[in-house]
Amino acid sequence: MSKADSRPIGVFDSGIGGLTVLKELALQFPQESFLYLGDTARLPYGSKSPSTIRKYSEQNIIFLEKQNVKAIVIACNTASSQLTEHEFDGLPIYNVIEPGSQRALEVSSSKRIGLLGTRATVNSKAYTKKIMEFDPKAQVFDQACPLFVPLAEEGWDSDPVTNLIVFRYLTPLLQNHIDTLILGCTHYPILKNSISRVTGSSVELVDSGEAIARWLDRDMKENRLGASPGVEPRRIEIMTTDHSDHFTEAAMRILKPVKADGFRVVDL
Ligand code: DGL
Repeated sequence: MSKADSRPIGVFDSGIGGLTVLKELALQFPQESFLYLGDTARLPYGSKSPSTIRKYSEQNIIFLEKQNVKAIVIACNTASSQLTEHEFDGLPIYNVIEPGSQRALEVSSSKRIGLLGTRATVNSKAYTKKIMEFDPKAQVFDQACPLFVPLAEEGWDSDPVTNLIVFRYLTPLLQNHIDTLILGCTHYPILKNSISRVTGSSVELVDSGEAIARWLDRDMKENRLGASPGVEPRRIEIMTTDHSDHFTEAAMRILKPVKADGFRVVDL
């Protein structure tokens, strides 16, 4: 049985995408403190090789471990697709693939599931394998969307250019009559308006933040992860590996109404 634990939860992504997960976690767990790491100096991960993605992810984990976090959420599907361990040096690691796959199967009636992700995530087949493990009859139709990350980093949701690119990427999936679409990259919820405009309301969107929040909630209720006693006000600290005013502005916009207590640049 886990004891109350006031240490922060570490969260990392290559850039701003993981902030969509941090926001969800911060809203769901108002007593928990969070330490977020955006590896902005080495973004994007999605076009890199499996061994490089794994090496960067391990470095991020080791860095967060040194900050004395109680668990780490890999708020990056690309990193999650290459690093599937549930613990690292005794530290619990939460990866977004399993919760997203499970959630997609829960909401899909036809079990025809679409997946959008980076090239690395799609090539890894991590979602397809996990979904088939849970339900061998399910069918997964995947599509790599390499142009989405820069559009999300620019904050171009609902922009005509984005709408056109979304239409081009999604058309083959919609022709396969999917009823559920996994936003298999934490940057993609930033483009949710453009995506849902193309899918229409008959396709359910699954995003990593909501899915992982449910898993953490379950683990805290079942005492596998110590919850914060909430004696002191919680803190949300954001660290990046490169300084950028653009990141800070985008972070404040994405996190709203959640407020970060501090931003700083770190060396891994
Ligand atoms: N946000 C990351 C993900 O969830 C990928 C962004 C990148 O390519 O760095 O896959």
